Amino acid sequence: MTTILPLRLEDVSVLRKGKRLLGPVSMTLSEGGLTIIVGPNGSGKTTLLKVMHGVERVSAGRVRWAVPDEQAQHHQSYVFQTPIMLRRSVADNLRYPLQLRKTPRDTVETCVADWASRIGLQDLLKLSATRLSGGEKQRLALARALIRRPEVLFLDEPCANLDGASTRDIERLLEEAQQAGTRIIMTTHDLGQAKRLATDAIFMLHGCIKEAAPAEAFFDAPQTSELQAFFRGDIIA
Ligand SMILES: Nc1ncnc2c1ncn2[C@@H]1O[C@H](COP(=O)(O)OP(=O)(O)O)[C@@H](O)[C@H]1O
Ligand SMILES: [Mg+2]
Repeated sequence: MTTILPLRLEDVSVLRKGKRLLGPVSMTLSEGGLTIIVGPNGSGKTTLLKVMHGVERVSAGRVRWAVPDEQAQHHQSYVFQTPIMLRRSVADNLRYPLQLRKTPRDTVETCVADWASRIGLQDLLKLSATRLSGGEKQRLALARALIRRPEVLFLDEPCANLDGASTRDIERLLEEAQQAGTRIIMTTHDLGQAKRLATDAIFMLHGCIKEAAPAEAFFDAPQTSELQAFFRGDIIA
């Protein structure tokens, strides 16, 4: 299988209305692992994710996949912070990404049944997705992203507003996806979750990557005073 990774960002900046939202950022996203992005509100985490996914225009620098952009786009999914549901049934929400790909009908129905049971919604297939609970919606959004078997999956605070049990459900799905070979990169405000899931981590501050390291070094031996302060829960100037 050809891989779309590594993804390289070279001196990427995003400027809007004269304000620097991101950058300059240079980094490489290699194959394998689960990368967690942490940092205070407004530090540029979402902007960085969107730049990687190609939905935020960069003002300077380059974003390069190992393959042409159009090919790379086909093998990545993005789960937004607030799950976006089609105002249709749970089953239709799961069918949709496969229908876009012109998947044969038998395969679609097998996949839908399989994913519905994996996310515990097998008895709610005919219910309108808009009537699901927050945790159910987020599981559905994740299943919709994974049903296309992306090579790379971006998630922006997938467990914001979820209770402990729903958070664990999402984490289990992410671990299964990772074991199945999906490269995951996600933001979170939950440091416990970051520690449970990360193989490596990035700390964003003022639109820049302040620190990046394998998970153990990142959490056990933060190098910068800013990351140390962030872990203590201090406000960082
Ligand atoms: N389209 C936009 N125009 C102007 N400012 C924006 C826009 N999108 C985000 N911002 C600002 O960019 C900064 C970084 O935002 P964001 O990437 O959402 O941070 P985070 O996800 O870490 O909270 C924030 O100060 C935010 O207010
Ligand atoms: Mg954000």
